[in-house]
Amino acid sequence: MADLSGKVAVITGAASGIGLAGVETFVEAGAKVIAADIQDEKGRALEARFGTDKVRYIHCDVMDLAELEALMDGAVSHFGKIDVVWNNAGSGGTPATVEELDEEGYDMTMDLLLKQVFFGTKYAVERMKESGGGAIINTSSISALEAGWAPITYSVAKIGVAHFSRIAAAQVAKYKIRVNAILPGFIATSIFGASLGMSREVADQMAEMLAQQGGSMQPAGRTGQGKDIAEMAAFLASDAAEFITGSQFTVDGGITVGPRHSWDETAGGPVLEALGITPEQAEQMAAAMQAQK
Ligand SMILES: NC(=O)c1ccc[n+]([C@@H]2O[C@H](COP(=O)([O-])OP(=O)(O)OC[C@H]3O[C@@H](n4cnc5c(N)ncnc54)[C@H](O)[C@@H]3O)[C@@H](O)[C@H]2O)c1
Repeated sequence: MADLSGKVAVITGAASGIGLAGVETFVEAGAKVIAADIQDEKGRALEARFGTDKVRYIHCDVMDLAELEALMDGAVSHFGKIDVVWNNAGSGGTPATVEELDEEGYDMTMDLLLKQVFFGTKYAVERMKESGGGAIINTSSISALEAGWAPITYSVAKIGVAHFSRIAAAQVAKYKIRVNAILPGFIATSIFGASLGMSREVADQMAEMLAQQGGSMQPAGRTGQGKDIAEMAAFLASDAAEFITGSQFTVDGGITVGPRHSWDETAGGPVLEALGITPEQAEQMAAAMQAQK
């Protein structure tokens, strides 16, 4: 487990999923955490759970740049400084294809997933450089690497997050500030239900179902948990990662290593797929041909 003793961390999207796991993991590692979200009831419950000496909740809609800047000031006034900022809040954004796209959906998605990372980083840097350095972590996605994991606008915003993190890292290294991106794979959280328009309550239940049922999609044999991403974030936030900046970390249980047959012997390869037959049927056909000889 990473050591975050004495560090003050700001985590956005902290009321649910990956961000919530971040709060739990960072507190366990010894950090004081400013938890930011728009789900106020869940956010305040974090203060009650951990105590306000360890976790303070601040309402912050990351799409509102005044609120985002006030969040950083709130962290300094509550806990005296900022060592870590994890720009993590997000949702699925517009589901539109390139043909269906409208300007409103595009702007909303880019503002939520990309613009807030630009400005969350800018506001963090302004404060971190005063205090001698820090670590910034931005949540990207495997949809930045491959088509098919998320809608087009979300995916393009997330490759923007990853590339922004590299260039920003180069620009702020002189202040001893590190910037890295994490690319989570298929993580069982409420984002999927919420993106389908379900109530948060139902989306939370769906997250639990995904945790039970999504295991066969990746070589690791189980769906990712928020904790899997939070552990990587805690490491990147820690002094043990002092030499790591401008990098992208895929945490996906191997889901992007290659097509299913590359890691699952029971899955047919591309030839069988093209023929539309299962490995079992291929074996039966081969046996029948042998018998005819
Ligand atoms: N779950 C996955 O499979 C997955 C994969 C790749 C990337 N991600 C990314 O991980 C991050 C966290 O998502 P999650 O899966 O934990 O989903 P989640 O829905 O469980 O949590 C997202 C949190 O962000 C908050 N949020 C949404 N809009 C906000 C806003 N405008 N201001 C402040 N907070 C806001 C929500 O209230 C929620 O608490 C997102 O950036 C998401 O794109 C998730």
